[in-house]
This record gives sequence, structure tokens and C-alpha cells, in this order.
Amino acid sequence: MSELKEKIEKRRTFAIISHPDAGKTTLTEKLLLYGGAIHLAGSVKARKANKHAVSDWMEIEKQRGISVTSSVLQFDYQGYRVNILDTPGHQDFSEDTYRTLMAADSAVMLIDAAKGVEPQTKKLFWVCHRRHLPIFTFINKLDRFGREPLDLMEEVEKILQIKVYPITWPVGLDGKYKGVYNRLTREVSLFKTDASHGSKQLEEFSADIDDPRIKEMIGDELFEALLGDIELLDMAGEEFHIEDVLKGELTPMFFGSAMTNFGVQEFLEKFLEMSPAPQPRTLLNGDVLEPDNPLFSAFVFKIQANMNPAHRDRIAFMRICSGEFDKGMTVYHAQSGKPVKLAQPQQFLAQERTIVEKAYPGDIIGLFDPGIFGIGDSLSDDKLKLRFEDFPVFPAEIFARVQPKDSLKRKQFEKGILQLSQEGAVQVFTQKHVGLESFIVGVVGQLQLEVLEYRLKNEYNAQLVMTQLPFTVARWVYAEKPEDIEKLRGLDNGMLVYDKKDRPVILVNNEWALNWILQRNPGLEFLVVPSDK
Ligand code: G4P
Repeated sequence: MSELKEKIEKRRTFAIISHPDAGKTTLTEKLLLYGGAIHLAGSVKARKANKHAVSDWMEIEKQRGISVTSSVLQFDYQGYRVNILDTPGHQDFSEDTYRTLMAADSAVMLIDAAKGVEPQTKKLFWVCHRRHLPIFTFINKLDRFGREPLDLMEEVEKILQIKVYPITWPVGLDGKYKGVYNRLTREVSLFKTDASHGSKQLEEFSADIDDPRIKEMIGDELFEALLGDIELLDMAGEEFHIEDVLKGELTPMFFGSAMTNFGVQEFLEKFLEMSPAPQPRTLLNGDVLEPDNPLFSAFVFKIQANMNPAHRDRIAFMRICSGEFDKGMTVYHAQSGKPVKLAQPQQFLAQERTIVEKAYPGDIIGLFDPGIFGIGDSLSDDKLKLRFEDFPVFPAEIFARVQPKDSLKRKQFEKGILQLSQEGAVQVFTQKHVGLESFIVGVVGQLQLEVLEYRLKNEYNAQLVMTQLPFTVARWVYAEKPEDIEKLRGLDNGMLVYDKKDRPVILVNNEWALNWILQRNPGLEFLVVPSDK
């Protein structure tokens, strides 16, 4: 195998998707602990404690210096190079969260055992599912009272419409959690609790389920219950085929408790074994680029602007897709058609930034961006000069009308809005024939609106008046006859707008209103994402 191929085979790049409070910070930290990247758990959490208590932009600004280091965390485990992409949640939830998923080869879906599938998990799941990303499920907080494992399995299957195969199964529940049974190896791992409250790696005892010591250690009642569960799963459950996992049609499920470390190592090892190495990427012309192509290529998936107001620097995060990255190399930037030198590349380890000398497919690097990069931009070796397919548009849920406060500053305002929309900070829509000098902006999270306001003022010297609109749903509208679309003008319960490619979009309050409009306008078709058919 070539050296490049070997590097690729050993890389895993994934994101953890979950609803706030399911335990993502805790699990990330425990993965780092097992990867030896930190020695005592507690540091990642301490960092989170400082984060975004106030949703004041200046505060956010200050904290960017902290959160940027967590955009990707890298560690080594048993010969694997692991890249965990950070997907911002809470008040930070924005299109960035979705875009980060574009850089992942798989996702770990973290679910709180007491709460089941929650709204933010659902949204993130669908973005992954649309890309056929392999998804691994970790049911967390098993040390507490939670819902029945079978009930949780069924919920994932029903709500997310994906087949589930539990790889591990809990031994003892509701405060009596003792360990996990691995259905693939038939091994039971029993955990020893210690006084470290999960700050150190866990000691455990593992043996085959037929080993008499297991029954002795957990007692007859738990042992019989476990055998009953195993039989039921084997008889009535799904069959396990790794191909289904890799196509994103079956999710392997694991049970554990990130806080006490129970089941974390079992999960990590199986996950690394089963999850895909860096995957091929599709180009704009429909061709597919293999990661072991020796020529370098990468795409930008996130831009972090203005981390330091005094310097106004931006960091562009890119994912390497093929070849080898060498510090200081010059590559072709497809969007500008110009060569760019990749100077000062940064990589983000568990605790600090370091300068990268070399990086490989699946790795993420951050580059200081003098303002030339946009989200989804392609960089490649001069001999490739390729362009990756465009990033999808993600469903905005919050809409506002924005106008310049001072009409003399209209030019700056327009320039700012258009540039920020190009950079991917907000989605911009326009209305036609209404004579209003305003734009409609659509975002995924409230924070994006705050950022828009702040950046327009500070970077473009334009203050704005923002009126939030009651809409929560946007659909791209298609019709055989264009006049059918015209009929949507002047709706009481919706607004017809146009996206930046001039495609019609309807904004409505809720799904119910959508159906109402559809029933009265039979010639129309509404799509969640635009299609250039
Ligand atoms: P997030 O990043 O997904 O938002 O979740 P985070 O890890 O911050 O965890 C949210 C809360 O859930 C924390 O409690 C954390 O300690 C707790 N937690 C995480 N994993 C487990 C688990 O396996 N079992 C139990 N019982 N709790 C878990 P908190 O009270 O908000 O914070 P703290 O006081 O523990 O710092």
C-alpha cells in the first residue's frame, strides 16, 4: 500500500450530533481522555463553562478565541488519527453547524436515555441522512433512570426512519448499570466504579458471556434478564451488515455513560473499526475524486470572522480531500481562478493550536484568510484545477426584514448584505414589485442575526433596522406554468420571495399553512431544498 493510502486508511473524521445537554462535551472529553490527548477529564468542560452565557456579540467575539480551538479536535488512538469536528449547539446553533457536517465522513448521534430523540438531533440527523453519511448511535446517561433500551431503539427507527442494530447492550439498568454486552464478540465488560468520578480511564473486567464468573458477578436475576434480551434481539432484530452501515441505512447502537466512562471505550474501538476512512468527493461536473489521488485538493467549510476586532483576521477551515498538504504550498483557488499560497496553516489539537507541516485527506486545517475565501470554495493542485460540487442550501427557520437605518448609507448596506450572504453568514431573499428598499434574510439560528447586525455596523459602517417576520418554513416553489407562481403574490399567510439565484421561494408560518396553500394551488410543487430542474 502506498504511504498516502496508509495514512488515509487510518484516518477518521466525524462530528457528534445531539441536542443540547445530551452530553456531547462530556463524551468528547472522554474520547480525548481515552486517546491520551488529555490526562484528566474536566478541561473541556471547564472551557465550556465560560461559553456564551451572554448572547452579547462582544462577548461572543472575545470567546471566539476559545471556541476556535475547538473547531476540530485531533488525537491518536491505536494507530488511528481521529478528527472530531465540533458542531456548535445552544445559542451558537447556526448554518455553521450544518456546514461542518459537510466535512465529516460519519456522525455519532448522541441521545440522552431519558429523553430519546430530541428536536436538534432530528434536524442534524436529516442533514447527515441526506448525504447518506454513516451514523453511529450512542445512548448516554445509562447510569441514571432512563427509558427502556428497546423503547429507545424503536423511537430511533420510527422517528428517524433508519434501521437500528445494537452492538452493545446494557447489563442492569436504572441506577444498577453494571456494564455492557457486546453482541458481535459475545463478551461482557463489567465496570469497576472508582472514586475518580470518570476523570480517569475506567477499570473493567471482560469475559465471554459463557464464562461462569459473569453470572456470579452480576447475579442470577440480571443474568437471566440479559439472556432474555439477547435472545429477543437475535430473533426479532435487524441483521447486521456493514454495507448497510456505510450506506447510512442502518445505525449501530451503543449504550453507555459518558460521565462515568461506562461503555465509552467499547464504543470508541468499534466505531473506529466500523466507520469509514476519508471518502471520495463529488465534483461540480459530476466526476468523483478519490482521496488517494496524489494531487492535493481541499474545500472550505467554515469561515470564522473577526476573531480579533483589532486585526479583523478571518480563519478559513478546510478539509483535505486528496493528496498531501505541505506547509506553504501554492494551490489553485477555483472561485477566483488564481493561485494562493497556503501560509500559516494551523491545526487544532486538544488544547492548543500548532502550525501544521503536513496533513492528509480527512484532516482539517485552518488558514488565515485575507478575505478571499468563501464557504464551499475549492482549492487544488495546479494540475487538477478542480471544483467540488456546491454546498447544499440548508433550511432556514428564522426570517427578518432588514433595511438601512440611514438611507444615505444604502450603498454600504447593500454591499455588506451581499458580501455577507456570499460568505454564507445569512441567506438573502428579495421581494419583487413591492417597492421596499429592503431584503429578507433567513437564518438557522438567532445568533446569525446578531452577527449580521454587528458585522454590518463594524465592517461596512451600516446600521440596520431589523423586523423579525413570523415565518418558520421556507420552500422552493416549482410550477409548470409560471403564472401559477405569480398567484402566490399577496398571500395573507405567506410571502413570495426570490433567492440569490432568482428562484421563487415561499415563506410561511408553519407546515399547516403550507398544506393550505398547496391545496388551493394544485399546479405547484414545494421543495425543501432548491433543485435546478
Ligand atoms: P452538551 O455538551 O451536549 O450540552 O452536554 P454536556 O456534556 O455539557 O452534559 C450536560 C449535562 O449532562 C452535564 O450536567 C453533564 O455532567 C451531564 N452528563 C453527561 N453525560 C452524562 C452521563 O453519562 N450521566 C449523567 N448522569 N450525566 C451526564 P450538568 O449538571 O449540566 O453539568 P455539570 O454540573 O456536571 O458540569
